[in-house]
Amino acid sequence: MPIKFHEGSKTFHIYNKHLSYITCIMENGQMENLYYGKAIRDKEDFSYLHEEIMRSLMAVCVPEPGLLSMQYTKQEYPVYGTGDYRNPALTVRQENGSEIVDFKYVSHEIYGGKKKLAGLPATYTESDEEATSLDITLHDSVMDTDLVLTYSVYEDYPVITRSARLVQKGDQKIRLENVMSAAVEFPDMDYEMIHLSGAWARERYVKTRKLEMGTQAVQSLAGTGSSSEQNPFIALKRPHTTEDTGEVFGFSFVYSGNFLAQVEVSTYEMTRVMMGINPQGFSWELSRDEEFQTPEVVMVYSDKGLNGMSQAYHRLYCDRLMRGKWRNHARPILLNNWEATYFDFNEEKILNIAKKAKEVGVELFVLDDGWFGTRNDDYQGLGDWFVNKNKLPNGISGLSRKIEEMGLKFGLWVELEMVNKNSDCYRAHPDWALQIPGKNPVRSRNQLVLDFSRKDAVDFIFDSITEVLDYAEVEYLKWDMNRSLCDVYSAAAGYQGKVLYDYVLGVYDFLDRLLKRYPNLLIEGCSGGGGRFDAGMLYYTPQIWCSDNTDAINRTRIQYGTSFFYPVAAMGSHVSAVPNHQTGRVTSMHTRGVAAMSGTFGYELNPALLNAKEKAEIRAQLAQYREYQELIREGDYYRLSNPFQDNFAAWMVVSDDRSKALVSVIRLTAEANPPAAYVTLKGMEEDAFYREKTTGKVYPGAALMEAGILLPAAVSEYEAYQIELERV
Ligand code: DGJ
Repeated sequence: MPIKFHEGSKTFHIYNKHLSYITCIMENGQMENLYYGKAIRDKEDFSYLHEEIMRSLMAVCVPEPGLLSMQYTKQEYPVYGTGDYRNPALTVRQENGSEIVDFKYVSHEIYGGKKKLAGLPATYTESDEEATSLDITLHDSVMDTDLVLTYSVYEDYPVITRSARLVQKGDQKIRLENVMSAAVEFPDMDYEMIHLSGAWARERYVKTRKLEMGTQAVQSLAGTGSSSEQNPFIALKRPHTTEDTGEVFGFSFVYSGNFLAQVEVSTYEMTRVMMGINPQGFSWELSRDEEFQTPEVVMVYSDKGLNGMSQAYHRLYCDRLMRGKWRNHARPILLNNWEATYFDFNEEKILNIAKKAKEVGVELFVLDDGWFGTRNDDYQGLGDWFVNKNKLPNGISGLSRKIEEMGLKFGLWVELEMVNKNSDCYRAHPDWALQIPGKNPVRSRNQLVLDFSRKDAVDFIFDSITEVLDYAEVEYLKWDMNRSLCDVYSAAAGYQGKVLYDYVLGVYDFLDRLLKRYPNLLIEGCSGGGGRFDAGMLYYTPQIWCSDNTDAINRTRIQYGTSFFYPVAAMGSHVSAVPNHQTGRVTSMHTRGVAAMSGTFGYELNPALLNAKEKAEIRAQLAQYREYQELIREGDYYRLSNPFQDNFAAWMVVSDDRSKALVSVIRLTAEANPPAAYVTLKGMEEDAFYREKTTGKVYPGAALMEAGILLPAAVSEYEAYQIELERV
């Protein structure tokens, strides 16, 4: 069992071949965080890791025989009012207004496998041998409340998952104002924090900053999902850590609502990391026999640099977060009509686009926004999930069948969490929108948010959309979401502090019900582009639209950042028309294809407007993608350059047995008569020889990784190359 409890020292050692995590029960019954890092050999007692130093004015909670002070102790789940003056992981407001709690160890349970988290997405196991879990139960006797800290360690991944649960056993109604999913303490502050920050059309740019004393944090208050601005991920790395060497600690939050990822460095240079639901806008009442479950944090430890951390997340999320038919399965190559038509289409136009898409070899056609209600622009129609017969006289069923007859699969866009004031839905049920009584609601993209915390509204939307899906051949759904939440007030909720969390669980429940009804449905997540790229959504939507920005050059940065924590298999990435609709830039079809092949691949253009040369290029592109699709999806992904700094964007995928590799390079700058440029590879077998497909040249694996491959001389701006290598 890779979780041991040492009775004598009251110490838990959670470990596998990659990592160790050690926590113990202190003299005062609370839990101390002793170690997290590279795997160390188990022993009975790790108490030497406890810092026992007398400091003047120290707040001492157990004076004799040793000294115990929460002020300088690395704690497992710190609370306020114990003599520890740093940020707490838990704030519980009691009926008398007090926030002081004291949770002491009561019992624990170690078991094989991993339990589900009620109503929440989480990583999972398929057998009890894959992971071992530990529940530590602590109790506060004043409130008569249990706190259960849960840990799971996977056998093969360098991963520990954590969550917390509160169970009220006493009579008073308590209010949870802040419940982090995990806290981890490090004894020093010599780290840099990495996070993914951005905006619409430039999502997930990699930011790195040195830790300083005090609190540094990233958070989302957008209501749902990660938001384009901040992603629910942080990593701590040592200053000397590179892509391939050195230590990194990754923290990923499996939740699609407001989050807080906070790092606090004390004046004694200790570092506390906490991750959980953002306390802003959250307040949860617990009465006797009720409980609250936090979402999960997935912690990856890597001593193989940033790329080592990324590969661990990629493997875990592909294998044990994504589910159902589409896990480890080829995704259809699709064409989406959004940039081809926007709202301006009818059945004839759509069928023509689909026909042309089929001719070049596309597999699935997606009908985007504008097919329902009076949705002729973005001022109306959301909430009315019945077909617009003026545009599509044969309905979605008729259209989808015609498309199926062409030999194409059919996909449909929806934005089910939203409502326009100009809709039948809003006119009949204005109270189903989140808005403050008596206050003019804040609109964004001219729409309001439907109250997904209330069952009647959700059931109505579920019935409306299943009425469409039940009678049509829909194999793919694009689940969009084009605004953030504010005016969070539910006419049905009573106590408002729970609405945001219930909203997120309402979305999850809806997705779960959809997938139960249509188990083969592939759902692609989307939120104004890549505003909801998070691990919570990945559980339901195994691919997520990376960004509305389809410019191949900008995409190298967006996809580079996304690859820090999310697998290529999840990245919705398409070739679009030029001049690009977001940047106006013109790049070749080849360059656009190379960029999009670092994702699920598809097209975002009107194939009816392509000339013969472009059609031939697309056919060749599709053949190339089909050949490498599995390698791209399942292979080990390596970043070879940093497109924020370098003249090239370069990355590669290598097969598990290291017999095959595909290297992609895009020139980011244009320079006359540039110096020779080499790209050095990673992950190859040192002693093996590899043949490069186009030139037939054979290279030793070590040479590819040390000297690299000379890139062809540039002949035009933004040139791209794909280097295909096979072991000989
Ligand atoms: C935002 C998405 O990112 C686009 O791809 C498109 O689906 C529009 N919404 C439609 O309104």
